[in-house]
Amino acid sequence: MRIDILTVLPQLLESPFAASIMQRAQDKGHVSIHVHNIRDYSTNKHKNVDDYQYGGGAGMVMSIEPIAALIEKLKGERTYDEIIYMTPDGEVLEQKHCNDLSLKENIMILCGHYKGVDERIREHYITKEISIGSYVLSGGELAAAVVVDAVVRLIPGVLNDETSALTDSFQDNLLSPPVYTRPPEFNGWKVPDVLLSGNTKAVEKWREEKALERTKARRPDLLED
Ligand code: ADE
Repeated sequence: MRIDILTVLPQLLESPFAASIMQRAQDKGHVSIHVHNIRDYSTNKHKNVDDYQYGGGAGMVMSIEPIAALIEKLKGERTYDEIIYMTPDGEVLEQKHCNDLSLKENIMILCGHYKGVDERIREHYITKEISIGSYVLSGGELAAAVVVDAVVRLIPGVLNDETSALTDSFQDNLLSPPVYTRPPEFNGWKVPDVLLSGNTKAVEKWREEKALERTKARRPDLLED
């Protein structure tokens, strides 16, 4: 998979992909991530990427020209399955969107800033608008990093033990059951006996019960679908 990220703050996207699973996914050739500075495509002498909004009002708007120039350049090089705009008024990200996106070949992600992007970019280029939750960030960069992380770990071959993605919370509309590791007792706090029993059937049943119990208590909405 190839992911192109369009931003006015490329430095915000340097570290999220430079460690652990994200770095390994790139080293193993499962994904290539390209961060583009929108400012490099500004033709104006001050390299501006924003302007006052028509009709008045506080806050700047991201200008159409540099973003359109960058999108056109990238589209001329390959076909994109999705051109995503990160925005708090987009569709709220869920695991099912990440599963879909993990099967794509080429994805472009535009990070919003200021009051947002000139609406004509959204109308004419954007194919999907994503929010990572009902709160407002300073810009779309951290949201884009969240999407990339959640998607890349699902690309087949990225995780060493592929089943570990399949048993993630949300994959079957259930939260994950509790997990424990050594020691079996700490401060008198014991690991549940069943997990030490060696009885795999009993362990599986316990995990299913705990996952359902936790989902009912914390996210009953997941059980409604
Ligand atoms: N940009 C600012 N806030 C955001 C959010 N919650 N999700 C996606 N992009 C954003």
